[in-house]
Amino acid sequence: MKRVKLGGPDGLEVSKCGMGVMSITAFYGDPIPDKDAIELIAQAVASGCTFFDTAEAYVAEDPVSGKLLWNEEILGRAVATIGRDKVEIGTKFGGKSAMSGPAMGDHMKQACYAALKRLQTDTIDLYYLHRVDPNVPIEETVGTMAELVQAGAVRHIGLSEASPEVIRRAHAVHPITCVQQEWSLYTRDLEEDIVPACKELGIGIVPYSPLGRGFLSDDMASPTDDVRQFFPRLIGDAFDANKALRAQVEAMAKAKGCHTAQLALAWLWAQGDKLGIDVVPIPGTTKIRNMQSNCLAADLHISDSELAELSAVFDGVVGERGFEQYMSSTYRVNKNVVKGSDS
Ligand code: ATR
Repeated sequence: MKRVKLGGPDGLEVSKCGMGVMSITAFYGDPIPDKDAIELIAQAVASGCTFFDTAEAYVAEDPVSGKLLWNEEILGRAVATIGRDKVEIGTKFGGKSAMSGPAMGDHMKQACYAALKRLQTDTIDLYYLHRVDPNVPIEETVGTMAELVQAGAVRHIGLSEASPEVIRRAHAVHPITCVQQEWSLYTRDLEEDIVPACKELGIGIVPYSPLGRGFLSDDMASPTDDVRQFFPRLIGDAFDANKALRAQVEAMAKAKGCHTAQLALAWLWAQGDKLGIDVVPIPGTTKIRNMQSNCLAADLHISDSELAELSAVFDGVVGERGFEQYMSSTYRVNKNVVKGSDS
């Protein structure tokens, strides 16, 4: 698989297709057995996918044992068997709930050292602020992240759900290697504001939920009863309306001889090329066959006319991309305090 350097010449080299490991332990259905998770990650590396995404916030109770299942821990165990030098690890801090928690100072340092322990490593390739804390000036947060870089605990830093203004202020303190942001055929608001800012600053984009939380595939025939039941697009009449739109993507994929999810990923890379920005999506999966299919999509070419046709499919998408509490921490809603201001 091709490799991409996120964040310019001094940036972080990763595989063109990464992988989100969140759903291995939580949120989209039940966790999968540890040995299957470790095999899935090993097979991903064998397929050329070496860039793995996790977070401090991806922790949940095991439905059987009641014990806490830390997503970082299972990735750490997999990496220990595969070899640390074979992978790039991206993780995020921001408390057990990504929506809260002081994002600075001692808390961040403690969070980082706890993550290192769970990941069984002495350095994190890419450490993100999961959600911007509205009450802590971003300069202070990034200043502490930079101290972690200087200490060798972290190699590169990133932001998630940060507005262009916050990205600029952060980048002035320490180079931001990439911004992780929801981006898919049906979530494209960042193309207006975040993409131009990142392009100008030489920052890469890591699209999260590149498959629309599984909707942009051949597999989601009806709403699920996991956390996705709270996402307005993925329930009720909105689901049906969006499914009717998705049928156009399914038909195009069929005609092209590929899977719907592969076409959704190929669109992202092609759109990144068109907009002149490095894009490294991290589709999440619990299945080896889906992981392999996603990796193969990295070589799928789509023409300008296919790109244009796909880009228009979800112009009429129905429903917000997240529920109310989720949206409150997203970049257009969540404002960051400016040092010295009263607001
Ligand atoms: P997130 O970033 O939130 O994890 P995503 O990457 O857009 O969201 O989508 C993840 C979902 O897509 C998962 O539910 C995954 O289901 P499996 O665990 O069953 O694979 C689904 N998914 C990933 N790759 C897929 C593929 N190639 N075909 C069908 N579904 C896929």
